[in-house]
Amino acid sequence: MPTLERKKYSEKWFSSDGQFNRLYPNYIQLLSQRHWTPLVVARKAAGFLAAEDGVKVLDIGSGVGKFCLSAAYHKPNARFYGVEQRERLIEHAEAAKEILQLDNLYFINGNFTQLDFRQYDHFYFFNSFYENLTGTDKIDSSIDYSRELYNYYNRYLYKQLDQKPSGTRLATFHSLEDEVPPGYHVVGVEMEGLLKFWIKV
Ligand SMILES: C[S@@+](CC[C@H](N)C(=O)[O-])C[C@H]1O[C@@H](n2cnc3c(N)ncnc32)[C@H](O)[C@@H]1O
Repeated sequence: MPTLERKKYSEKWFSSDGQFNRLYPNYIQLLSQRHWTPLVVARKAAGFLAAEDGVKVLDIGSGVGKFCLSAAYHKPNARFYGVEQRERLIEHAEAAKEILQLDNLYFINGNFTQLDFRQYDHFYFFNSFYENLTGTDKIDSSIDYSRELYNYYNRYLYKQLDQKPSGTRLATFHSLEDEVPPGYHVVGVEMEGLLKFWIKV
């Protein structure tokens, strides 16, 4: 479908978070407020990350795809990739992609540690490892949680981001910033400090 027609077709889904949530079954909707990126945040982050045409943006821990779907809708000239460890969430993301008829995004089922970060230009991160900490809200009981995993994933992501070239962009939402290497400088802050934009110098 041509870009303009597709935009018109998908418009109603992006009119509010409540409307967007209807793409998913009830139990996914109930997790929305705590675990999925609000539309306004996705739009702002996409604007920052896809500053140039043709860039490849990775969402580390993409859940049911809300960031990628919204970013792909607003930025048709960039490509968005979501990696997600829970297969069931990937299935919901793929179903939503089908309904929205977007084609500039891809979902990958797996652990982000399996990816080659050299394949991606810029990154979005919504505090994906937080569930591993005691006392935090969990999406489900399908995986193991531990402080060790939290530390391991943070260190792994830190190393990957550290190896990226200067000019790499990162958007973090609700991050504790353990994963952000010192080479990344804050260039913008939104949503009362919850959404931060970084560029590697
Ligand atoms: C807070 S949710 C954010 C979802 C999505 N980025 C969004 O903004 O709507 C974090 C997601 O990261 C996933 N996740 C956590 N650790 C992961 C890992 N090591 N590899 C892949 N996915 C992971 C979780 O399963 C969860 O779906």
